[in-house]
Amino acid sequence: MPETAPHEVQTLIDDLYTKHLATDRGAVATYIPELSKVDPGAFGISVVTADGRVFEAGDCDRPFTIQSVSKPLTFGMAMDEFGADKVLQHVGVEPSGDAFNAIELHGGTNRPFNPMINSGAITVTALLHARYGNRTFEHVLDTFGAVAGRPLTFDEAVYESERRTGHRNRAIAHLLLNFGVVHAEAEAALDVYFKQCSILVTCRDLAMMAATLANMGRHPITGRHALSTRYVKDVLSIMFTCGMYDYSGQWAYRVGVPAKSGVGGGVMAVVNRQLGIGTYSPRLDRFGNSVRGTEVCIDLAGRLGLHVFDCVNVGSSFLDAIL
Ligand code: DON
Repeated sequence: MPETAPHEVQTLIDDLYTKHLATDRGAVATYIPELSKVDPGAFGISVVTADGRVFEAGDCDRPFTIQSVSKPLTFGMAMDEFGADKVLQHVGVEPSGDAFNAIELHGGTNRPFNPMINSGAITVTALLHARYGNRTFEHVLDTFGAVAGRPLTFDEAVYESERRTGHRNRAIAHLLLNFGVVHAEAEAALDVYFKQCSILVTCRDLAMMAATLANMGRHPITGRHALSTRYVKDVLSIMFTCGMYDYSGQWAYRVGVPAKSGVGGGVMAVVNRQLGIGTYSPRLDRFGNSVRGTEVCIDLAGRLGLHVFDCVNVGSSFLDAIL
């Protein structure tokens, strides 16, 4: 049997894996003690098309905690549940320009700046908690599993570690309580937030989740509508402007697609209607973004013309049809 040549996207991913494997810049997060135990050299790249084809290289089966990559998903859940008017009474859509764990609220409204920073994400989880009570985490885990296309679990040790040491997040939760942004059970909601951050995923899961968002909320393989199409645009918009913390402007300029990082080392990037990208490499830069993840996405966007304003990215066929 003649050997078939690998697909050119596979060859590109293999090349990027080899190119960036040598990078050892950055440092593993240690502020949650349990996170400091991960293998700093782990590295995986996974790309899933909006119709479910998978291309990948490296450690794509290795579980790690989702951390802040959970934030756009709980935001999407809250939008589905309560609608935009109610959610946006509690949290804004402006980049903060400050660190993800800043203890601050928007001066004029006393709302968190956006749902991609800790104050905004805790607010969103508190909204879900006000409706689901002690079933909230189960609901979050089930929904994340539907977005990934497989049942997920969480890492008890990372959860315990963050619960024990998350004084800053506790301060944020109480600030939110002081301003009436969250309901009285702020501590219980915070506990759900800690658990949601410790959900275990692989970089293939992140690519699948991204592909579900790229595919308007419908999982490309299971076919299940995990998030309603209506709010996918809202989720992606805020990922685009706020998803990479105080590197979000540079990311929009250099990569040009909505994305979200987590201190566990994951990056999830969405190429609207086309691809989901997931990377895993736990060495982080000073913003809290994975060093290799950022570099891989810059290269992938450049090589495949993924930037939303790239001249090869032709845009809306809907407009073509009506013009
Ligand atoms: O709230 C925290 O500190 C973590 N559980 C999640 C933070 C995170 O991933 C920020 N990421 N870059």
